Amino acid sequence: MENKFAGYQQILEDLKEENRFRQIPHDRTSGNRIDLSGNDYLGLNSHASELHEEFLAHSDSTLSSSASRILASKQRHHKELENLLEELYGRPALLFNSGFHANTGVISALNIPGTVFLCDKLIHASVIDGLAMGKAEFARWKHNDAEHLHRLLQKYEARSRRMIVVAESIYSMDGDLAPLEKLVELKREFPTMILYLDEAHAFGVRGQHGLGLAEELGYMDEADILIGTFGKACYSSGAFAITSPLLHSFLVNTARSLIFSTALPPLNVSWTKEMIVRISKMNGEREKLKEISKDFRNFISEITGTENPSQSQIVPLMIGDAEKALKIASALNREGIDALAIRRPTVPPGGERIRFSLNASLSPDDLIKVKKAIRKVLLENENQFS
Ligand SMILES: Cc1ncc(COP(=O)(O)O)c(C=O)c1O
Repeated sequence: MENKFAGYQQILEDLKEENRFRQIPHDRTSGNRIDLSGNDYLGLNSHASELHEEFLAHSDSTLSSSASRILASKQRHHKELENLLEELYGRPALLFNSGFHANTGVISALNIPGTVFLCDKLIHASVIDGLAMGKAEFARWKHNDAEHLHRLLQKYEARSRRMIVVAESIYSMDGDLAPLEKLVELKREFPTMILYLDEAHAFGVRGQHGLGLAEELGYMDEADILIGTFGKACYSSGAFAITSPLLHSFLVNTARSLIFSTALPPLNVSWTKEMIVRISKMNGEREKLKEISKDFRNFISEITGTENPSQSQIVPLMIGDAEKALKIASALNREGIDALAIRRPTVPPGGERIRFSLNASLSPDDLIKVKKAIRKVLLENENQFS
């Protein structure tokens, strides 16, 4: 009789064969390493112990919500955080347990009859899963190609009642920006278009108060649904959706990831609130991050001899092959630099790369060390990038 687990074993063997096998990495927090793998873009981790000490000295919140937002008796901290976000964005905010919960919950809920989703080709996996959960009709536009989107809007306008256009303000793997101005123009041209903007990698990083790219470009009211996450620049975890009062109420009634999952712990929520107050004032760090990102992008362009797609703190080094990407990441690791090899399915075949994720706590010496290590490793692995 066939082993009932043999099918799973075979899939793991195939992943190994294709250099796509994943493992949870070891803890790498000890030693004098430079971490370019996480999303702590403002570098708050470098002040972690003072921040924690200060917070825990006055915190009165507890460690569990004990129920979902729909049922929990403990709502004070959640409401305070939502009120703060509403004050900042000028529209109601709804908390979710993570960006993954937010995208899967909101996208699947928005799929009522007559809806079509038009998504950028590089949209995050959580949006794709939300579409699958909601059994939604969708089409994808070529990455950042507003003309292609325009053609799709023309195609679907007559046969749908609403067209939800989904984009990320900073793309998580290429580090480039959504063509927000063009998306806003398209919204004016197509009255049934709804704009859904995931600001996961821009929240804390862009805009006068760190509210995201829409704030920076003056389009905050144009994103009908704006998603932000706390697990990246905000140095916490969880997420939020900014919407109209109508959609807020609709999501409270329909978003399954909100209704059927225990709410974030009050302690976490009150920490997030303090972090938001702090990051809203971190313009110095935002400026510094912009400068070092520009310099680093120029460096990567120079050593590869190709233009880099990035316009942000996420800078890819394109390799184009999973095995080579793994080799380069391990070699960097031996030099004390942590940066991840990104492979399928996170990026399409041929898009394998090293993803460098910069943060505002990097010193000039750190950056010199990183550049030196990259030059050395690439020289040793000559012709390993495309
Ligand atoms: C664009 C985007 N949206 C959503 C998420 C999910 O956010 P979270 O990590 O809070 O689940 C991510 C995570 O990396 C992301 O890159």
